[in-house]
Amino acid sequence: MKLLEDRIKKDGQVIGTDVLKVDNFLNHQVDPDLMADLGKEFYRRFSNEPITKILTVESSGIAPAIATAMEFHKPLVFARKHKSLTLKDHLYTATVYSFTKKTSNEIAISRKFLSADDNVLIIDDFLANGQAVEGLMEIIAQAGATLSGVGIVIEKTFQKGRKLLDDKHVRVESLARISAFEDGHVIFAPED
Ligand code: G4P
Ligand code: NA
Ligand code: NA
Repeated sequence: MKLLEDRIKKDGQVIGTDVLKVDNFLNHQVDPDLMADLGKEFYRRFSNEPITKILTVESSGIAPAIATAMEFHKPLVFARKHKSLTLKDHLYTATVYSFTKKTSNEIAISRKFLSADDNVLIIDDFLANGQAVEGLMEIIAQAGATLSGVGIVIEKTFQKGRKLLDDKHVRVESLARISAFEDGHVIFAPED
């Protein structure tokens, strides 16, 4: 998506060899007009699917996910990263390991908000190692719901998340695909 690539070139900051800082429009300050455009693009790509729910993980997935939910007119549910196990009986949970932060997080969704009748579209800000999406897929499986696809704002093709999802035959649509960072510059993969 050219609009997004242009914005990444303008406002993205490359940190080291594998991290892109986009706190100017996505991860801290959020550009609402850009989010609306991303939501429309995800809707265009997935409107042939019988989506009943948009799913993401707090916190940075919420902005693009709500923009998408507004296009589908379906609810957004965001998994919470919680510490307590006291409500275990009423939750679907999964453990998400972050290779970047080298920590494990439990994510949870109330059983009230996901069921076997749901067709789910996962939306997230980044696809790096794919652990967040894998955790959400585990929760979808626990609910007996159907995964219709995964929409990603920024994919880093050189990390292992995309292959992991391709191997599971999951439909992934990424609006920007970064194949490398070179000398502080972003190299985009050709659009698929
Ligand atoms: P994974 O889910 O793909 O396995 O992600 P990974 O463990 O590698 O990354 C951990 C966190 O870092 C995730 O956010 C992820 O979205 C974010 N992240 C990964 N690569 C980049 C990057 O290049 N730039 C930026 N800005 N973020 C990146 P999180 O811990 O779930 O936090 P939150 O921001 O959603 O609260
Ligand atoms: Na993040
Ligand atoms: Na995220």
